[in-house]
Amino acid sequence: MHETLDAIFQRRAVKLFEPVEISEGLREQILNAARHAPSSFNSQPYKFYWVQSAAKKAAVAKLCLGQKPAETASALVVAVADLESLSATAQGQLQWMRWSNFSEKKIRDYERTAKIGRILFMPGPFGIFAAIKRALFRALNLLKVIGMPPLSRQDLFKWATKSTSLACQNLMIAAEALGMNTCPMEGFDARRLSQYLGLSRRHHEIVMVIAIGKKSSAHDDSPQWRRPLHETEIVL
Ligand SMILES: Cc1cc2nc3c(=O)[nH]c(=O)nc-3n(C[C@H](O)[C@H](O)[C@H](O)COP(=O)(O)O)c2cc1C
Repeated sequence: MHETLDAIFQRRAVKLFEPVEISEGLREQILNAARHAPSSFNSQPYKFYWVQSAAKKAAVAKLCLGQKPAETASALVVAVADLESLSATAQGQLQWMRWSNFSEKKIRDYERTAKIGRILFMPGPFGIFAAIKRALFRALNLLKVIGMPPLSRQDLFKWATKSTSLACQNLMIAAEALGMNTCPMEGFDARRLSQYLGLSRRHHEIVMVIAIGKKSSAHDDSPQWRRPLHETEIVL
């Protein structure tokens, strides 16, 4: 079978790992694969905290409710939806476009899109701008076909979570292809883990924690169940 499909079909949420070290090179390959995932407007609105030192790993595992995959993993990756990085990312892409000799038109178009994004994505104090923008978009939607951009802070986190989750899936498939195993986890104390990592409630939301390691021989690989294809596919 195709190698990518092998990794997709072999991947399982592994609940018990062997203590193995993950080299710097392997870590870079895994995180590099994560950031190659598609993201809305290529905004890459995430950060990955790679927790590998024994003391920090133990502290984070405790905040993952002491779950076995967290306690036995070689590393824990905390995937964070990050709204703080948005303007720096747009600046970075603009700089890269200039260095790469993109045409003036393309640069201007990108600048305009980034500016519109900044205005649209600004919830404002107490979400006031979001409420005004929502009313305007609803009125406009009565007249024409339009998409609703993320307006409130909650919308923005939902928006960033989509791109972060795609990066997480890339990360897990890459780890599998490179001979490692993973377990995604949403069982964690979000408030305490955010505090531990020094995250701001305004800009950051933890999407999931991914335990990475080598599957233990004691891991019970139960059969994988999925809903039948006909129950999830709707062909129009
Ligand atoms: C968003 C998300 C959160 C999850 N949280 C946990 C978790 O906290 N602890 C855990 O042991 N597994 C967790 N899992 C793993 C699922 O239980 C697992 O993917 C599912 O049962 C299917 O098994 P498979 O991945 O081996 O096919 C999570 C998976 C996802 C996608």
